[in-house]
Amino acid sequence: MFSKYTQTCIDLAKKAGENLKIGYNSTFEINSKSGINDLVTEYDLIAEKVITNELLILYPEHSILAEESGLNDNKSDYQWIIDPLDGTVNFANKLPIFSVSIALKYKNEIVSGCVYNPISDELFYAEKDKGSFLNGKILSVSKCNDIKTSFLVTGFPYNVNENPLNCLETFVSIVSQGIPVRRLGSAALDLCYVADARFDGYWEVALKPWDMAAGKLILEEAGGKVTHYDGSNHNFIKTSIIASNSLIHESLINLVNQ
Ligand code: IPD
Ligand code: CA
Ligand code: CA
Repeated sequence: MFSKYTQTCIDLAKKAGENLKIGYNSTFEINSKSGINDLVTEYDLIAEKVITNELLILYPEHSILAEESGLNDNKSDYQWIIDPLDGTVNFANKLPIFSVSIALKYKNEIVSGCVYNPISDELFYAEKDKGSFLNGKILSVSKCNDIKTSFLVTGFPYNVNENPLNCLETFVSIVSQGIPVRRLGSAALDLCYVADARFDGYWEVALKPWDMAAGKLILEEAGGKVTHYDGSNHNFIKTSIIASNSLIHESLINLVNQ
């Protein structure tokens, strides 16, 4: 039913996820990257190796963009986009909200994607024009059409203390209007939770392609909408994201840009 590429996303997300689960139940090394709270554990690196080693065997001619090892550019129309552990701070603190995210981009379009939380054993996956699924169940976004009664999720960048792009003001403004907002710590899961109607909308800024690529396809295939803050088509060039069940999209854009 699915392409070999989608099956590869699923197989490798599960394989990397098994490694993360072993790590989660053990002790491991934690280091800082861009700042004291921007962490990388030895399991970020192990999970990424599991994925990239296998991709190099399966599709040696493809390009790979992976968070910890960067871009391996083979000038191919196919590019794998990998976040081996999305939610590292949660993982490092033994909070079971994290995921493996693997997507395949063909030319300018994400065509396959998988996000896996190995602790809850929730496997989200999608293929372009074939729908999105959670452990075999078809996903469909919520029917909420009033932003005032919506349930939202967001996130903050590691340098939030420098307050890039007014993200704190935006957060305070939305919460002050009485709208419930959560901050879970894995952008990939945030997008999947909108796809599964747990949330009605999501916004964040200063994200990287690997945070969003698989989740964007999963949400769009579930009937959701994904744009940048200015409402333009999401093409991963800008770092902002507004994602919703489609119905509240315009209202969420207005709210975030207030
Ligand atoms: C982070 C998570 C988090 C988001 C951060 C990301 P990482 O990714 O997706 O939810 O708020 O901006 O950097 O570092 O855990 O892979
Ligand atoms: Ca990430
Ligand atoms: Ca990561």
